[in-house]
Amino acid sequence: MKMTKLVILIVMIALALFLILPSLSWAADDGASIYRTKCAMCHGADLAGKPAAKIPSLVGDDAKKVSDTDLTDMIANGGKDKKPMHAFATKGVTPDQIKMVVSYIREAQKK
Ligand code: HEC
Repeated sequence: MKMTKLVILIVMIALALFLILPSLSWAADDGASIYRTKCAMCHGADLAGKPAAKIPSLVGDDAKKVSDTDLTDMIANGGKDKKPMHAFATKGVTPDQIKMVVSYIREAQKK
């Protein structure tokens, strides 16, 4: 009898995980949350950068002029100068996720 309860408990936990996990990975896959976890600590939650630390704004006029290709390269590989604090392609950020961050930045630039 006890054993049956245990089995039911385990099945319930497994079921709950099945329901929760897909929504977690989905949450990590939209541009805003990728930005929050990977970029906001430097570029700020409002994308305005930190001038005192020489971190550029991502919504300023300079950033608006950067092409999608250069923006993607900047994030994935650190741009022409291979800036090591970027190079997110080597840090587990997939090309799809980088695309989502790029469109998130573009959306923010329109505001
Ligand atoms: C460790 C701090 C740090 C993190 C994390 C970081 N950046 Fe940066 N970023 C910088 C600095 C510093 C520069 C300025 C580099 C330079 O010009 O020498 C920069 C420059 C940029 C530029 C170029 C802006 C321009 O006007 O040319 C873009 C675009 C950018 N970052 C996007 C991102 C995105 C998107 C993320 C997250 C996926 C990110 N950064 C994460 C520090 C960071």
